[in-house]
Parts: sequence; structure tokens; C-alpha cells
Amino acid sequence: MCGIVGYVGPRDAAPILIEGLRRLEYRGYDSAGIAVLTDDGKVFIEKKAGKLNNLTDHLNGNAPAGHPGIGHTRWATHGSPNDTNAHPHTDCTGKLALIHNGIIENYAEIKTRLVAEGHRFSSETDTEVLAHLIETKYRGDLVEAVRAALNEVRGAYAIGVMHTEHRDRIVGARMNVPLIVGLGDGEGFLASDVPAILEHTKNVVILHEGDIADVTPSGTRILLLDGTEVQRDVTEIHWSIEAAEKGGFAHFTLKEIYEQPHAIQECLRGRVDPGGNVSLPELDAIADRLAVIERVYIVGCGTASYAAHVGAYLIQDWVGLPASMQVGSEMRYSPPPIDAKTLIIGVSQSGETADTLAPLKLAEERGATVVVVTNVVGSAITREADAVCYLQAGPEIAVASTKAFVTQVLVLEMIALHLARARGTLSDNRLRTYGRALRSLPRLAAETLELAPQIKKLAQRYARVRDFIFIGRGVGFPIAMEGALKLKELSYVHAEGYAAGELKHGPIALLDPETPLVAIATAGAVYDKVVSNVAEARARSAPIIAIATVGDDQIDHYAQDVIYVPETPEPISPVITVLPLQLLAYEVAVARGTDVDQPRNLAKSVTVE
Ligand code: G6P
Repeated sequence: MCGIVGYVGPRDAAPILIEGLRRLEYRGYDSAGIAVLTDDGKVFIEKKAGKLNNLTDHLNGNAPAGHPGIGHTRWATHGSPNDTNAHPHTDCTGKLALIHNGIIENYAEIKTRLVAEGHRFSSETDTEVLAHLIETKYRGDLVEAVRAALNEVRGAYAIGVMHTEHRDRIVGARMNVPLIVGLGDGEGFLASDVPAILEHTKNVVILHEGDIADVTPSGTRILLLDGTEVQRDVTEIHWSIEAAEKGGFAHFTLKEIYEQPHAIQECLRGRVDPGGNVSLPELDAIADRLAVIERVYIVGCGTASYAAHVGAYLIQDWVGLPASMQVGSEMRYSPPPIDAKTLIIGVSQSGETADTLAPLKLAEERGATVVVVTNVVGSAITREADAVCYLQAGPEIAVASTKAFVTQVLVLEMIALHLARARGTLSDNRLRTYGRALRSLPRLAAETLELAPQIKKLAQRYARVRDFIFIGRGVGFPIAMEGALKLKELSYVHAEGYAAGELKHGPIALLDPETPLVAIATAGAVYDKVVSNVAEARARSAPIIAIATVGDDQIDHYAQDVIYVPETPEPISPVITVLPLQLLAYEVAVARGTDVDQPRNLAKSVTVE
């Protein structure tokens, strides 16, 4: 949801900013812009609606020399996505330039006041008020001006500010939106996320809410909104730059689909021993609190909510506690009973989804135990947590989530097994059987991905249909919904996921020879029932695509196309059954020529409610 990047140091800023924006484009791509302090002391600004390529085409390699600089890629909230509303924005003097991710909630009243004082606004954005507000506070000390201005605003922000009178300084600040400072050798960086600056430094300071960073080539000073200076830890990032690049794949989406065997391996590391014993050391410190839990809610949005759905099934099944999935954007406004005996598990790849963070705050206020499952070290969600379980999946760049989903499911499975062991609700034998099954997943995932050529042919055949229906039962139900979501996101084809048994209660009316039905029909307790539902669809002449287990000799009586996946215990199967659905969505999207890595209207992390 908007990406920001800043550079201060001896090099020309423009190429560093543009490369940084390229790695942040997943956060939004409605417009892009940069500001650079040129060698003759002026602020050069170029900004263009649309993707970063529009900006780079326009610059045509002619960005001016100079430093420092700031850059922005936008996901529009206030003001349509045109050149004028693109960031950076300036003050009336043209000496100050500013970029912003977030929403200034009281911008209208500040704007009215500033306009009355004679300030001239050129955009419809909430952001521009910050530039003018800082202008009113500026007496030569940029950090102090930013601090004074931020004390008057409400809302969420990560900002980067530069000024012609400060060649060796950029100022950043954060409130409820991520911002990191990169510490280079004689240079400094600001960025929304690590990949933007990974090429230049692996040492970062993850700013806290309310921090203001005075970033200079010789170091960074951090102040609170009241002016107190504070020290923050330096975090060393272990991701490699290759992990943030396409590495020969046509799209990040495809690369990340193929990274899944490795991501699963990394996710299991340190958590399942060769004997199949599962333990999440991250939960040890809250063992006493977990011991008294009487109910569990797992909260997430989009793809993360489907991972949460699988997790809720397993906790209920293995631990015997009432457990349910909660959609982040609904939970806060219609909260279920939450008390000190409630465990809330927040699931978010980015760790910054506002709709997920809000109910976690509520849960914390009501005394619940909060565990979070996220991919991004130090992300906002980790601040809400009593314990944090990282996905360890490496950076996910493509907007549609693949490897994060699979590792979210995996972490939730491990949490369920951890709780089952602690409470003695599963026998040692079953615990180890599942643990060993988890350890075989990297190999089985790699085998499953070898189905890609079959799925590509299938996708090309179905690429022009208008609607798809996906069905599954038990843990297959959330996978049906995730398969449908992936298809919608990537290919813009209408798709719905249903509990297989619900098909006959309505959606069956949609079926005809032009509407394929994708059925998750892998081996397990619900297999026969799913096959019955498939038969009902077959009788209505719908083309059937089944995801079935290797060795199934029945399903091809009903399905035109069967994708045979390796056998896994039913509760573990979602990690495998989702893989062909990801490939299907990807290949349909490629066949239809959509923008696979950056689907229209979406952003990878959504920091507004
Ligand atoms: C956005 C993305 C989705 C994603 C959801 C949750 O809506 O477009 O693909 O599933 O956010 O993201 P999170 O970072 O919280 O897992």
C-alpha cells in the first residue's frame, strides 16, 4: 500500500531510488515518482500515473545527477491515480519534497487552515498537507519541523522528507505503517520494506510507531514525537538479493510457486526433528497461558483467512478446543466473546494488514493471548503479539500469495500439533506420524510441481471460460476457496469456492457445459461424499477437473481431467492440493495475458481498513 524509498550519501540518488521502487512496486502501482536534490541545489521532481515503467520511459535515462533523493510508488486512497496526485509532493517554496504511505485522517481540517493562511495546494491528496504543515514549522531545523508537524496530525504514516538546505539528510517517520532505515557505509536509506535496499545494505533499523529518523551519511539519530532521543536495535537481514529477484522465471508468481519446496523446508527448520517430534520454541515462553486457553480464533484477510480456516479445523480436530476462522475486517465490528482464556492467532504475510491488526488490538485489550504468524521480521503485527512464529519463507514479491499461504498453513499445523502435545490430546504415535508427514512435504511438493505441463495444457483449454466453481470438504473447503481466489486475482476470471455439500443448495444452478467444476477429491474421510457431489455436477454436464490422490481408480469415471497428487495424511493435504490450483490460476492468467505479478486494483499489503 504505497512504497517509499530514500537515499542520502555520495552517490547519485535517482538510479538507487528507481531500483528500490522496482522492488516495492508490489505495494501499489497507481503512480510512481522521484525527487532528487540536483547539483545546482534545486529539487527535481518527476512523477507519472501508472506503473514505474511509465516514469522510467518518461525519464528515458535522463534523471539528473544529485543527492539525496526520495521515491514513491502509490496505491491510491485520496485522489485519483493521476500525475498530479502522484508523490513526491512539495511545499509552497518548492524547497521541501515529501513522500507518504498511509492516511492523514485530519487532513481536511489542516488543509482548510493552511489554505486560509495562503498555502497553495496542487493535488487532492491527504499527503500534501504534510508538506505544507512542515513548511509552516520550518526554521532551518528539518527534523524539528517534521516533529512539530507530526504532533498535529492523526492517522497512519510512513514519510520521507528532503529539503534543499539539507544535502546530507533525509528525515523519515513512522506511525502504524512500516518504515525501515538502512545503514550503509557512508550512506543511509529509508524504505517501506527490506528488498528495496537489500542490494546496498543488510543492516537495518526497524522503526517503532512514533519514531522520527534523522538519516545522514554518517549515521542515524532517532527521536520520539516528544523530542526524546532513543536507541533502536540494528537487525541484520539474512535474505539474499537473489531472493528478491526473478532469477530466470517469467514472473515472481511462478518463481514463488517453485520456491515452495524450499520454503516448506525452511519453515520446518528447527521445528520438526527427524523423529517427527514437532515443537515451536517460540511458544515456550507462553506455555502457562496456553495451558488455560478454552477457545481459539484465527484471524486473517484474503489468502491468509483461508490458511486460518485450515488452522481452525485442525486445532478443533487435534486439540479439541472450539476454534474458528475470523475475517479480519469483520471481527472488530462484530466481535465474538474474547477473554483471558481466549487464544487469538493473527495470520498475515506482510504483518501490516490493517484489517488484521485492528481485531488483534481489540483482543489484547480484552486480555486474550495473542500469537502471530507472519513473514516479515519486526512487522507491525509482531508488536501486538505475546509470541511470534515466522514463516521463514523468504521475501514474497508477487501480489498474489503462494509460498506464504503454504507456509502459513504449515505453521498453523505445527501450532495445532504443539498444542495437542502440550495438552495430551493426540497420542505420541499420531503426533510423530504427522510430524514425519510434515518432513516429507518438501519432497512431495517438488513432485507435485512436476505436474505443471499437464496443468498448462488444461489451463489453455479452459482459459476462455467465464466462470469456475471450486468445491472441497473439510480441509479441502478452504483450499477450494483459495483456488478460486487465486484464479480471480491472477486471471480476472469469475470463480467461487464452496463447501462441496453446499453445491446442491444453490450453486448447482450455475453449472452447465461452459462452467467447469474443480473438485478437491483427495483420499480421506470425506472422499466418498465429495465424489457424490462431483457426480451431481457431472449429471448437469459440467466439465469436471478433479484433484485426486495417486492410485485413485474411481474418479476418472466422473472427471474429464484428473490431476493426481502424492498421498499425504488428510489433515496435511492442503499444503499439496493447493499447488495445482496455483499453477492453474497462473497458467490461465498467462493464457489470458493479464498482469500476473501485479493484478489490477490489488496491492500486496493493505494498510487501510
Ligand atoms: C491483500 C493481498 C492479498 C492478501 C491479503 C492479506 O489483499 O492482495 O493477496 O492475501 O492482502 O495479506 P497479508 O499480508 O495480511 O497476509
